[in-house]
Amino acid sequence: MKAIFNRRSIRKYTPEPVSPEVLRTILQAAMAAPSANNTRPWHFVLITDRTLLDQIPDFHPYSRMITQAPLAVAVCGDLNRQPNQAYLALDCAAATQNILIAATDLNIGSVWLGVYPREDRMHGLSSLLRLPAHIVPLTMVVLGHANEVKPPHNEWFPDMLSVNYWGTKPAL
Ligand SMILES: Cc1cc2nc3c(=O)[nH]c(=O)nc-3n(C[C@H](O)[C@H](O)[C@H](O)COP(=O)(O)O)c2cc1C
Repeated sequence: MKAIFNRRSIRKYTPEPVSPEVLRTILQAAMAAPSANNTRPWHFVLITDRTLLDQIPDFHPYSRMITQAPLAVAVCGDLNRQPNQAYLALDCAAATQNILIAATDLNIGSVWLGVYPREDRMHGLSSLLRLPAHIVPLTMVVLGHANEVKPPHNEWFPDMLSVNYWGTKPAL
């Protein structure tokens, strides 16, 4: 619960690298995500090469922070394992959220960068990472040691709730 509420989009990082042990745990958390029919259609491309990281803002307009980060993970889906692109997107979103929560728990700052369904970002990332045609990039997560502090979430939105029938409010 602490990691869920403390997770914030961190867009400023120190130059310190993320250790291989921590990175492995974060990726293992990603691999623990649910997936439709348990197909586990994920492929995670670790982007550590500075020249690759620095090219991402060329095709992604909201990714400037990546030029200061030590690492990003491109969360991709394998069409050979899950041919339905909607399921692929949902499965990769679940894995992405696990990465963010695991990173928070391990004191690593993170931010989700949207890729799918924006064709220009998908094409840009596919060609940069030389992805084969059956591997679709869905999201990216930038990772690094946080160099900014943000307050935890504690919002409560009653408008987002119904019980049994639409518009009937639960007593919560
Ligand atoms: C599908 C999706 C796409 C996002 N794309 C970007 C992005 O391209 N760049 C960025 O800086 N943040 C991106 N974010 C992060 C949101 O801006 C952020 O989650 C939201 O403002 C709430 O802030 P918080 O994460 O600190 O709670 C994205 C989040 C989601 C779920």
